[in-house]
Amino acid sequence: MVPPVTGGVARGVARTSTLISCASMLATSVRRVALLGLRVVDLFHLRHALRWTFRRLPQRVRGRLGLAQVRLGLMEGLIKVPEDRLPRSLEAALRLMGPAAFGPGAAYLEFGVYVGTSMACMYDATDAVGANALRLIGFDSFEGMPARSEDEERDPVWTWQPGQLYADMRLTRANLKRLGVPDGRVELVPGWFDESLTDETRSRLGIERASVIMMDCVLEASTLTALEFCAPLILDRAVVFFDDWGAGGLDERGLGEKRAFDRWLAAHPEMTAAARPDLVYGKDSEAFLVERREPGGRAATG
Ligand SMILES: C[S@@+](CC[C@H](N)C(=O)[O-])C[C@H]1O[C@@H](n2cnc3c(N)ncnc32)[C@H](O)[C@@H]1O
Repeated sequence: MVPPVTGGVARGVARTSTLISCASMLATSVRRVALLGLRVVDLFHLRHALRWTFRRLPQRVRGRLGLAQVRLGLMEGLIKVPEDRLPRSLEAALRLMGPAAFGPGAAYLEFGVYVGTSMACMYDATDAVGANALRLIGFDSFEGMPARSEDEERDPVWTWQPGQLYADMRLTRANLKRLGVPDGRVELVPGWFDESLTDETRSRLGIERASVIMMDCVLEASTLTALEFCAPLILDRAVVFFDDWGAGGLDERGLGEKRAFDRWLAAHPEMTAAARPDLVYGKDSEAFLVERREPGGRAATG
């Protein structure tokens, strides 16, 4: 039997619901003011000045502002991948790889996690194809972009600055949660790639094979380090995505992810790569099926 509600309990419930509705009204007002602010920024073309100022703020302040943006659901400027098309490409990649590639020890490896949008897309894709045992592992400095190479420094259209795209792990986890990824589903590995992507990390994490790989770290040196980390994990084949292959015409100028991949393939004659235009999800992205040749020279699955 349901106990009768006493006057005190009823007053408590009423007070709590008043507090909840006040808090939600406050959040809506803050959101409206923030949206208005963004419109003013657009109207007066202040975006560039705002970015310039933001990049000069201390990391802690940038982290707090990013977190507030995630909490308010104002993801303007934070989303770097096409959320509408990417899950379908990731699903297609998982289907192409087949269930053998989702088994224990298999992993999706992402290099360049930032606020976790593409990682959340991969979570949705694993859910859609029933690849729930596939580990989702993301590597990032969680301190923003590193310094650029001399070539990148000299490039006239290069836009990525050191420290740009700053998202600390708290911010990334908050956004993964916002996007419906259960706690603990994604493993995040912090650190600069030249320090974190080591043999020791590979064995500490217990990764046995990489089935799908997302290269989203833009810079040639970062991409090359990540590809080297993956080489022993491509047992027979893997789908490798490059998110910023053609960003700002980088590929045409022989920079960035394309140059890293060309150099890596030249250093690994045991690997072959076939472009998969059917898996491409955005104007700047590229996708390849990378296969390890058998000792006789043929691709392992050819
Ligand atoms: C374009 S963002 C990634 C976007 C992300 N996939 C998403 O969905 O939001 C690039 C990321 O690469 C990371 N990155 C680039 N080079 C790195 C390096 N050498 N070591 C660690 N992180 C790096 C940056 O910190 C940045 O977060």
